[in-house]
Amino acid sequence: MQGQEQARMWGGRFEKSPAPEAEAFAHSLPTDMRLWRQDIQVSLAYARMLGIRGIISHQEANLLVEGLLEIAQEIEKGLWQPDPSAEDIHTAIENRLYEKVGALAGKLHTARSRNDQVATDTRLYLKQYINGLAGNLIGLVGTLIELAKQHTETLMPGLTHQQHAQPVSLAHHLMAHAWAFMRDLERLADSVLRVKVCPLGSGALAGASFPIDRELLANELELDEPAPNSMDAVSDRDFVAEHLFLCALLMVHLSRLAQELILWSTPEYGFVELDDAYTTGSSLMPQKKNPDIAELIRGRSALAIGNLTAMLTLLKGLPLTYHRDLQDDKTLLFATNDFVLPAVRLMKQMLETARWHTERMRQALQGDFSTATELADYLVRKGMPFREAHHLVGQIVRDCLQQGKTLETLTLSDLKRHSPLFEEDALQAVQPEAALHARTTYGGTAPEAVQHQIELATHRLEYLHLLLSELLH
Ligand code: ARG
Repeated sequence: MQGQEQARMWGGRFEKSPAPEAEAFAHSLPTDMRLWRQDIQVSLAYARMLGIRGIISHQEANLLVEGLLEIAQEIEKGLWQPDPSAEDIHTAIENRLYEKVGALAGKLHTARSRNDQVATDTRLYLKQYINGLAGNLIGLVGTLIELAKQHTETLMPGLTHQQHAQPVSLAHHLMAHAWAFMRDLERLADSVLRVKVCPLGSGALAGASFPIDRELLANELELDEPAPNSMDAVSDRDFVAEHLFLCALLMVHLSRLAQELILWSTPEYGFVELDDAYTTGSSLMPQKKNPDIAELIRGRSALAIGNLTAMLTLLKGLPLTYHRDLQDDKTLLFATNDFVLPAVRLMKQMLETARWHTERMRQALQGDFSTATELADYLVRKGMPFREAHHLVGQIVRDCLQQGKTLETLTLSDLKRHSPLFEEDALQAVQPEAALHARTTYGGTAPEAVQHQIELATHRLEYLHLLLSELLH
């Protein structure tokens, strides 16, 4: 085979070449070029299997393997670039193999299709990407845990409805984010089971009439098992959709944390100052220091959601089996993956280098009535029903507001005017420090409870680390 016919894998049946505009529209090399390593890995496994099963001779298999290894070297060293007009990476590499080993190259595709080939390439790529993402996510959770260790006594307002609710520690707040990322890590680990399935050997859709060995292919590619249904194997992109979902959720988690950093670094809050390295200035206003990286992380979460939506929409109307629509799965997958990893890394760095203004956090609790619940709880301990105590403390708050007082500055006689149940120790109960230390239940904000939480998180993280290295070996 030569010329046009060879350059296109399927030229034989056609009298004419595709219209140039149609060809350009269909062309996927700029996107799938980055699968070249996986594509060669898949072809190496396939060539060896064909030889082992006697479908081609050992000598032929060896020649194919040598040719493929040479191509890998050439691409690695920049000695050969695929012809930019090649339809996709599979065509480009096969064409190069023809140049190296001649007509024998055509035997590599025995019982193989680009349909099982591309699905396998994508799975191998994703397995490798997950390895990198998991490592960085473990790093981010580790950073949150380390910060939390330093701030179990650092008081700050805990909010609901963006209103001061009850005092919490900065450690407790940071750990809340850590647990969300921990769940992302769990989802990532769980998804590996569905990524490590091997479509190779499914052919175009119906399997093969040659004695291929699919177990061998799966083993060789370090995947867990051959896909059990050849039709599902070539049309299943659930693993891509699932990955885009877990990335979208991870980006949503990053976005929520980014939004807090953005708010906390305003002068109105003043809880944190981000390091210069993760902020930028204004071209007009010389004083500005803008949290652009946090803003971009927040913004990219929108793209992650969009890519997930596009992927699900791409799949929803597709009958079985392969359709060319599926080619665009990689555009979405690569686009999301390319910003998720740096977003995770940058968030970690931003947290590590931030300056925490703990005195401002403490000041924000001054006179904010966020210990009103403590006062109600105090009365409950003296036997008053909670509803009654709630009402009574509500009145105390209203009086304070009218008289320009705060809970912390009330005297015992002020309190006794509202209820004889109040004693000297009530004055202590309304201090934010006391409120923090009182919430000792499992999962609560008291320093010893948070300490326990940190230990749990550390163990969970170690477990997930081991699990992931086991799954991704
Ligand atoms: N570039 C294609 C993709 O990514 C490869 C598979 C093409 N298969 C086909 N039958 N046209 O989906």
